This record gives sequence, C-alpha cells and structure tokens, in this order.
Amino acid sequence: MGLFGKKKPNSFLGVDIGASSIKVVEFEAKKGRPVLLTYGYAELPNAEAGESLFDQAKETGELIARVCKEAGTTSTATMTALPTSHVFTSILSLTNGKDKRQRQSAVDAEVTKLAPLPLTEMILQTTFLDEEKEEKAEKGKKKEKKEDEKPEGEKSTESKTKHKQFRVLVTGSAKTFIQKYIEIFKTAKLNLQAIDTESLALIRSLVGKDKGAIMIVDIGSKRTTLMVVEAGIPFVSRSINLGGDTVTRAIMQQMTLSEEDAERIKRDLGTASVGGSGLAGDLPKVLETLMLPLVNEIRFAFQLYAGMELAQIKKVEKIILTGGSSHLPRVPEYLAEVLNMNVYRGDPWARVVFPKDLTSVLEEIGPRMSVAIGLAMREME
Ligand SMILES: Nc1ncnc2c1ncn2[C@@H]1O[C@H](COP(=O)(O)OP(=O)(O)OP(=O)(O)O)[C@@H](O)[C@H]1O
Ligand SMILES: [Mg+2]
Repeated sequence: MGLFGKKKPNSFLGVDIGASSIKVVEFEAKKGRPVLLTYGYAELPNAEAGESLFDQAKETGELIARVCKEAGTTSTATMTALPTSHVFTSILSLTNGKDKRQRQSAVDAEVTKLAPLPLTEMILQTTFLDEEKEEKAEKGKKKEKKEDEKPEGEKSTESKTKHKQFRVLVTGSAKTFIQKYIEIFKTAKLNLQAIDTESLALIRSLVGKDKGAIMIVDIGSKRTTLMVVEAGIPFVSRSINLGGDTVTRAIMQQMTLSEEDAERIKRDLGTASVGGSGLAGDLPKVLETLMLPLVNEIRFAFQLYAGMELAQIKKVEKIILTGGSSHLPRVPEYLAEVLNMNVYRGDPWARVVFPKDLTSVLEEIGPRMSVAIGLAMREME
C-alpha cells in the first residue's frame, strides 16, 4: 500500500475451481509479461456432480487458503472464473447507437429478451467489440475526409458502417451464484479483483493473438467445455457433462474394479499396447464412451458457429485440446482422423516466463492449469 491510496499490485493469483480440483497460479508482471512465481493444486475427493464445491463455500474457501499456503503465494489480488455452465454469453449486433449511453440501453433491451433471468437478478458484463476500430477511425479523420470524396462504390466498408452497427459481447451470471464465489474468497482471505469466465481465461492462455477460427476443447473430470473462438472472441461456449470420470466409470464397470484402481488403469492406458483397437487413430476402445458423444458435440458446435450471422470465418481451422483428460492417449490423433483437421494439445505456458528446469513438471500439469493461467494473465494484457 502506497502513501497515496492503493498501489496496483504487481502479482496476481489465478484460482480455478474445477469440479474435481482447485488450481492456483501466481504470476508477477515484468515488462508486461507474466513471470511464474508459484503454483499449486488440490484434488477434491468425492466431489459430487460438480455442485458440492459451490454449495460448500466454507470448505472450498479453506481448501483454497491451504493450497495458497502450501504453494507460498505472496499476493492476495485474485482472479477467478465462472464455469461455462453458469454463464450466459451472447454476441449481439445492434444499430444506431450514437453514444455509449444509447448503446448500453440498446444492449439492455436486447439482453432482456435473451437472458435466462430478469436483468435485476444478474450481473452482466458488456464489451463493445468494435470500439478499438472506431477509435482508430476517429483518429484517422484526415484519411476519412478523403474517403468522403470518393464515389460511393469505392468507400471502405469500415467508413460506411461507422455509427450504424456495433457488435457487443455480453456475458452474465446469476447474482446468487456470484455471491457464492464472493463468500468462498472471503473465507480464503483473498481479495477478489474480478470474476472472469472460463472461456476468456482459456483464450488468453491458449489462443493469444491468433485471429483465426479455433475450437478449444477443455476435457476435465466431470465436464467438457467446447468453444469456438474467432479473432479472440468466444462465439460458441458450451459445457457438457462428460469428462475423464466417464472413462473411469466405464473401466470400473467393464472390469469390476474400485474407482481408485480404475483411475490408475486409465492413466496407464497410454503406456499399454493399444494397437489394433480398430478405431480411428488407434483409440483405446474404452475411450469410446467419452469420444463418440464428444465428436457429436464438436460437430454440433461447428454447425452453431457456421450458422451465426456475425461469424466471419465460418469454418473452424483447428482444435486445441486442454484439461486433465486431454492426457488420455491417442485423443488428438482420433479427433484429427475423424474430423479431418489439425488437432493438438495446447501449451498454456507458452506465453509465460518460468525457470527452464521446471519445463517437464509444468508440461505435465499444463493441461489442468490452463484456466488458472489465463486468469492470472488477465491484468497483464
Ligand atoms: N495423465 C492422465 N491421464 C489420463 N487422465 C488424466 C491424467 N491426469 C489427469 N487426468 C484426468 O483429468 C481429470 C481432471 O482434469 P481437470 O483438472 O482439468 O478437471 P477439473 O477442472 O477439476 O474438472 P472440470 O473441468 O470437470 O470442472 C480427471 O478426470 C483425471 O482423471
Ligand atoms: Mg476444469
């Protein structure tokens, strides 16, 4: 704390509350780049259907405090994310907003029609997507003047649409749900700076400045989040109740094993001989339970994206996999073959500075940390 008011903290925690675990990373901003200070995680044994965490604010808060203590975090400035399943996301295209106030009321009117709850029961975040473009247009007034002198057909589209159409990304969640997060972080004695969405955190850690149309698939324990990102904007965000636990359960049933044994066998699948399964990409047969429905969901998300009026690219170029269950063997190869496209495991540490001798450890845990990493990066953009 400085003498004259609050000094902006220089390091930040990203805290991801998953269905089966809590992940924490701490970054320090150095010359605008995130530098890893520490990280930690804890499993939640017997987490029930993803809900128990949020229902047990006290326990969850205490667990976060424990992870922070063990990891030796120094900052209390914290970012966290709402799970995709609890977030309303929409991209709107509206017209005739002369100033910011008019635009905001146009947005509110539209969101009232689309949102699952009355606006008074939600907390909404509005991001005007074309603002940067317009500011540039304002600055380039000289250039614009020249444009005006051109015959109609030669005018650039940017100049023609100025002040006529604007695109907005609206995200929101129920106040009651957000209140649970506030309680959790109060118990953990952390200073919640902002509540983000998983989607935006994943874009930061895995997509960066890539302007293409990219799908991110985060395969966790109980949930898989699928999103289509175009030019860094989440156009489609969906969450389904499938994940690594689906495979563990299939192994338990097929081999009559305990959960612990089934989990071990699942993690050894990669080292076992998996040839000759007959499935695309030599996918181990037991992964069918997860991968067949997942392929359908991916295709559905592609369709949703292609059908979106505001989407410009329409065709997804590649798939980036993440989440603990992206470790499952042959998953990228299987998806690449079935969908006939480039599929690979993303590296969320790619934009982070860290000691070289940690490379192999960080690589191993990377897929599970993608959300936490993107959260801690938020204030460093
Ligand atoms: N090496 C591995 N091989 C196979 N599966 C693994 C491996 N390591 C972790 N997993 C699986 O990853 C899952 C946990 O991943 P992750 O931490 O991304 O999930 P989560 O964020 O806690 O849950 P969710 O995203 O569903 O809310 C578990 O199902 C676990 O079995
Ligand atoms: Mg997760």
